[in-house]
Amino acid sequence: MDIDGLSKQQAKAELARLAQVLGQANRAYHTNDAPTISDAEYDALKRRNGAIEARFPELKRADSPSDMIGAAPADGFKKVKHAKRMMSLGNAFNDEDVADFDARIRKFLMLDDAPIAYCAEPKIDGLSLSIRYEAGKMVQALTRGDGETGEDVTANARTISGIPHRIENAPDVLEVRGEVYMARSDFLALNAAQTAKGDKVFSNPRNAAAGSLRQLDVSITKTRPLMFFAYAWGELSAPLANTQIGAIERLAQMGFATNPLTRLCDGPAQMLDHYAEIERQRATLDYDIDGVVYKVDDLSLQARLGFRSTTPRWAIAHKFPAELAWTWLEHIDIQVGRTGALSPVARLSPVTVGGVVVSNATLHNEDYIKGRDSKGGEIRGGKDIRIGDWVQVYRAGDVIPKIADVDLAKRPADALPFVFPDMCPECGSPALREEGDAVHRCTGGLICPAQAVEKLKHFVSRGAFDIEGLGAKQIEAFYFDEALPIKEPADIFTLKLRDAGNLGKLKNRDGWGETSVKKLFAAIEMKRNIPLARLIFALGIRHTGENVATLLAQHYRSWAKFSAAMQAASDEQSEAWEELLAIDGVGDAIAKSVVGAFHNDTERAMIDRLIAELSPQDAQKRDAVESPVAGKTLVFTGTLEKMSRAEAKSQAEALGAKVSGSVSKKTDLLIAGAKAGSKATKAAALGVEVISEDDWLTLIGAT
Ligand code: IVH
Repeated sequence: MDIDGLSKQQAKAELARLAQVLGQANRAYHTNDAPTISDAEYDALKRRNGAIEARFPELKRADSPSDMIGAAPADGFKKVKHAKRMMSLGNAFNDEDVADFDARIRKFLMLDDAPIAYCAEPKIDGLSLSIRYEAGKMVQALTRGDGETGEDVTANARTISGIPHRIENAPDVLEVRGEVYMARSDFLALNAAQTAKGDKVFSNPRNAAAGSLRQLDVSITKTRPLMFFAYAWGELSAPLANTQIGAIERLAQMGFATNPLTRLCDGPAQMLDHYAEIERQRATLDYDIDGVVYKVDDLSLQARLGFRSTTPRWAIAHKFPAELAWTWLEHIDIQVGRTGALSPVARLSPVTVGGVVVSNATLHNEDYIKGRDSKGGEIRGGKDIRIGDWVQVYRAGDVIPKIADVDLAKRPADALPFVFPDMCPECGSPALREEGDAVHRCTGGLICPAQAVEKLKHFVSRGAFDIEGLGAKQIEAFYFDEALPIKEPADIFTLKLRDAGNLGKLKNRDGWGETSVKKLFAAIEMKRNIPLARLIFALGIRHTGENVATLLAQHYRSWAKFSAAMQAASDEQSEAWEELLAIDGVGDAIAKSVVGAFHNDTERAMIDRLIAELSPQDAQKRDAVESPVAGKTLVFTGTLEKMSRAEAKSQAEALGAKVSGSVSKKTDLLIAGAKAGSKATKAAALGVEVISEDDWLTLIGAT
């Protein structure tokens, strides 16, 4: 559905759905090397998510896919924390997005007309690698993993061409980052050889490269022709150059392969020219690329621009347009999510789009299937979608991957219009579509097994309790188990006792042996001591994803304080409510839903039964940054002269301060620029210290 036509409630539901779909796709891609959707489909979904968030910023989820980098590393390799986080890139899909990128940068830096130079280079479709050199010697190579922690693939990385093992005249510490890829010709040859041996073939060069690099047996990696392009760096003991392009040249001199299509551009017009040139050459290149990356060339400007939570402000990936494909729509399934929304999914005859096999497409809702948007206007020229149709799968721009078109000439004579169910296919409860809402929702609440199971799956998911041996599959089995059911989170922790009462029968079940049962019970025991942030996230409260859970945990520190505060915050006049809203990153919607969970009798009782089984760990203080404003809560107001508000905020956060949007008793300092208004008045009334922009710069030593 058109984003402009979404009601707030629809937008909320859509963001929840996108977070789930993208999270799953992300795990399939990063952890299993087995993409479930194509890159273009992924991008389109992510873009839709971003567009909805731009329209309803207050609905942005803490687990928003916009903030998601990769998935946690696969087991098998040693996990190592990156010295510097490995970032992802924001996306541009058209000329306007590129112009906006440039305009944003100018605004942030308060540069009106001064030209900004950008370095433009192909976006290589491989997997990123960070290689560490100490005293010129290669000592470690890590995959990106989740951006924070990667897998140690040092031995495998030594087999890659384009990566030197020793470097003359290198800084003492040098981390070089770039893309590992497999040439198309090598990929075809590898697949031919795999076929001849009867081994698995890879679906595209990227998966072949990933599968080859993440081989636990190095002797296999050795036989795979992996290549590398260097384009970035992590920790450095001395700068490589003053510019991006200078740094790339320096890396080339050190012996790294760098991409020959790297160019310096003087602004958006030249960037777009270079994009067109690269797109023209794309088919003739022996490696896959999926766009062009633009980076601010001046490294001192890059440093000022800094990062958002997972992407740099100084770079963007301009993606190539998505591809189209025709296929048969075999069936329409209805899925029920954690929040009860019924989502129709088209099951397609598998079709290759952009190198990845696609077999599902989202159909959104009843109107969408009927060929109508939320305002009753036509989509696809008003053509409806029926089981048996020959459909065009399309993903691009700001629309979700969808059935772009239906070929009515190929419609089977007996195809009937699709009738959207008004009952939940999982529990039989009425599935109501409320006035103004596009989505049917199951009204069964926790009696709906689909909702309950989805909630439990969330509870044991990676960012939550992450119990080894208790994944989505086992949760489903236990949920329906008559002798040893898990119907709610607390039941997980009584499993051992109940099994003992059952004469330890679990070990005789299908898929369970004595060892696996022992392991499961041990894994469950370990998690009784769960960190507070994970516990809060695991509760699956709406709007409370990992980021918000972390914010809450860091603020309240202990379960006792957190739950007491949520109990006390039901009154919106209360101090507890004000304190909750003063946490930077907690808005009205989040606050309402967290407090709401603690005041819903059924939910509260479930939480209490769970807590009775646990001894949650208190949250640790964040790594202290030494600065005069570390740990302080600041508010900026009025017009700043020396830097944009965004730059000031980003700088204050880098110094360990919290920046809040409103003045309260908790505010330590108000920085008032020109024409400061009501915030300054309120600060004065509350006795909060107020300083000028110049005082601020002196305070942090920026003058
Ligand atoms: S720069 C801090 N440059 O794209 C920015 N990334 O979507 C670091 N990629 O994780 C990335 N070609 O794996 C950069 N020329 C290029 C790239 C590139 C491919 C990949 C990389 C990154 C991903 C982000």
